[in-house]
Amino acid sequence: MSKLAIIGGTGLAHLSNLTIINKQMIHTPYGAVSAPLITGELCSESVVFLARHGHGHTIPPHKINYQANIWALKSLGVEQIIAVAAVGGITAKMSPKTIVIPDQLIDYTYGREHTFYSDDFSPDRHIDFTHPYNTRLRKAMISASSAANCNIVDSGVYAATQGPRLETAAEINKLERDGCDIVGMTGMPEAALARELEMDYATCAVIANWGAGRCNDNITMEEIERNLVDGMQSVRDLIEKTLPLVL
Ligand code: HPA
Repeated sequence: MSKLAIIGGTGLAHLSNLTIINKQMIHTPYGAVSAPLITGELCSESVVFLARHGHGHTIPPHKINYQANIWALKSLGVEQIIAVAAVGGITAKMSPKTIVIPDQLIDYTYGREHTFYSDDFSPDRHIDFTHPYNTRLRKAMISASSAANCNIVDSGVYAATQGPRLETAAEINKLERDGCDIVGMTGMPEAALARELEMDYATCAVIANWGAGRCNDNITMEEIERNLVDGMQSVRDLIEKTLPLVL
């Protein structure tokens, strides 16, 4: 049985059905984690939960200490991570409230501490990242989606942008030309850091809004919050049905 963590993003600061056993603020060589790591039971399965943006959503995407978060999970013996993320939809199928299990990503972020291998480098530390998301975890979420009654899209390219501002309409058009389907601000370097520490990692993305310029109106936080209420309920259902398949 390999230990599993759920990293919650915007709209998922806690798991309502999680019975909390223990909360730990872990000190890491990379600094402070976003929030205490919560160990608990979800549907009789043991899981660890971490709120990526901290409690009260006070840490912006470019200030999240991704190194500390991933290192801390590893130090607790976590071997697999389901990362929940709110995103914008770019291509036609990616409408608000849909859940997407991306299979690829493109990294547009900059200035973030993005590797554990800055010092003490050796040639074997060029990690393979051809397939950034773990296939076993992705397949488990895809198979669980019918039992969870979720409307999911089972693949897509995630664009990781810097934030915290949303994109311009021209940037969204460029992302589409690059082959991206969804856009979010926290997917990298989280996925690569997990790979560096040999943890299985997959993303469950919830579409909060159409990307900039993809509908007539400006994007509002009210719209994002409204869509995430429904979207995150589907994510909770999906995770609960996924756990028995991966634990
Ligand atoms: N762009 C980037 N990140 C996001 C968006 C978006 O439109 N919506 C939610 N997270």
